[in-house]
Amino acid sequence: MLRLYRHSASSIPSKGTRSRSMKSFKIAVIAGDGIGKEVVPEGIRVVEAAGRRFGFECRWQQFDWSCETYLKTGRMMPADGLQQLRAFDAIFLGAVGHPSVPDHVSLWGLLIPIRRTFRQYVNLRPVRLFHGIESPLKNWQPGQIDFSIVRENNEGEYSNIGGRLYEGTDDEMAVQQTIFTRRGVERVLRYAFELARKRKKHLTSATKSNGIIYTMPFWDECFHRIAVEYPDVRTDQFHIDILTAHFVRHPDWFDVVVGSNLFGDILSDLGPAVVGSIGIAPSANLNPEHEFPSMFEPVHGSAPDIAGKGIANPIGQIWSGAMMLRHLGVPEAADSVENAIVHALQKAEVRTPDIGGNSTTADLGASIAALVRQPSKNPS
Ligand code: NAI
Ligand code: MG
Repeated sequence: MLRLYRHSASSIPSKGTRSRSMKSFKIAVIAGDGIGKEVVPEGIRVVEAAGRRFGFECRWQQFDWSCETYLKTGRMMPADGLQQLRAFDAIFLGAVGHPSVPDHVSLWGLLIPIRRTFRQYVNLRPVRLFHGIESPLKNWQPGQIDFSIVRENNEGEYSNIGGRLYEGTDDEMAVQQTIFTRRGVERVLRYAFELARKRKKHLTSATKSNGIIYTMPFWDECFHRIAVEYPDVRTDQFHIDILTAHFVRHPDWFDVVVGSNLFGDILSDLGPAVVGSIGIAPSANLNPEHEFPSMFEPVHGSAPDIAGKGIANPIGQIWSGAMMLRHLGVPEAADSVENAIVHALQKAEVRTPDIGGNSTTADLGASIAALVRQPSKNPS
């Protein structure tokens, strides 16, 4: 079922600010389950505020694809769901997952088909320590931890090639293939090198070529081959086990970290965890060539334990909105949203319970939208 997301009257730009050349983006909204439905409206509110200030409009269209829909229809999305999404400039997703639906059903019924069909082969997650967020690590100052994780998002360890034999007997067995293609590995590595080049020019690769003796040496070879094309980027690599320890002990060592689907998945939960609340962490599933829509979603899930209370932190969703604006080609709007987040956290007046306050999801969303609208109140 489709529902059109209607702009409120106040969100329609007034005469004079609207010109024929005004950029307009078509965005598919999948709020999903649980707190997804609570944080997505705040993400939209802040992106709308940025649109009014920077002169672009978003046309949002809502899709009610979720575990709730699965329980009613037996499908996470309709059979032609991917075709429906194809026409959009971007997909803005909340979270999917419900205790009554197995997680592999919700993941393989919605998220993974979107990531793969639309060749969103980069999963990008920034990790930054902010003023006003208490990190579980001691003695780190804001600014000292600031890196990005690039996870391969289309192949690797997460394949559906494999099977089971002799089920229910003593001989029962399971096999799952890992798929590393030269094209798949090289394109994600190249994206990571390009990103490092725009940042502090340092790229770290996650490997495990001592234990996984075919695919990981292949990954390492690709890494060394492409590094030659980027002599200005300093490189290093660590086995995934010690790398997780370094994330905790030396988070200041990193600028861009690249890993396969499984390693990147683990690192990209660990990274946000070392800088504080999971509620603030964003992510982007990117098709860097813009051939297909990319998808933007917070790192957190549907949080059934706090769903319905109106207290979820909307910053992960709002920051994902900023990543969407950067990908859509309005970087000044993306900067203003990120600055508003930094400022709101520093000001510390409006906070949700996970970061030590008692404000609601909507209060925090509104206060960030106000900072986007009134940059004079925002020193950054
Ligand atoms: P979760 O991220 O939903 O929750 C973990 C803990 O963090 C909970 O205590 C929750 O209350 C808290 N939390 C998460 N987001 C928060 C926010 N914005 N503000 C304040 N507190 C927040 O992870 P969990 O509990 O493992 O998974 C719940 C469901 O979500 C599962 O069905 C899972 O499969 C699904 N999930 C979906 C994801 C997605 O849609 N991409 C990602 C991760 C999990
Ligand atoms: Mg994960």
